[in-house]
Amino acid sequence: MPTLRNAALRSSFMHDGRFKSLREVIEHYNSGAKNSPTLDAIMTKPGKGFGLCLSENEIDTLIAFLHTLTDEDFLSREELGPP
Ligand code: HEM
Repeated sequence: MPTLRNAALRSSFMHDGRFKSLREVIEHYNSGAKNSPTLDAIMTKPGKGFGLCLSENEIDTLIAFLHTLTDEDFLSREELGPP
């Protein structure tokens, strides 16, 4: 599982770069889940389908939280290289 530190500064997400914004990632978790025997119960909402089932406001709030994980000091530590 990748770190979420500085995730808000990225321009592509997931191992194949399929998503171009945090919103696309969250939309994937929100409504892109497929039911399976291994799907965590938190990803199922009776009557609402599968996924996080967040409202638009909750998505905005989650994205705002992910922005708080931005660490400019970490970026400037040359020995660690670019994000
Ligand atoms: C609200 C909850 C979650 C948020 C906000 C979130 C956020 C993210 C973000 C932003 C990425 C992209 C990171 C990157 O490209 O470097 C990511 C990838 C990933 N997440 Fe989550 N995640 C959540 C829940 C979960 C859960 C519950 C799991 C596992 C059970 C999980 C497993 C993964 C994995 C395996 C990847 C990499 C996928 C890939 O490279 O294709 N995430 N997540």
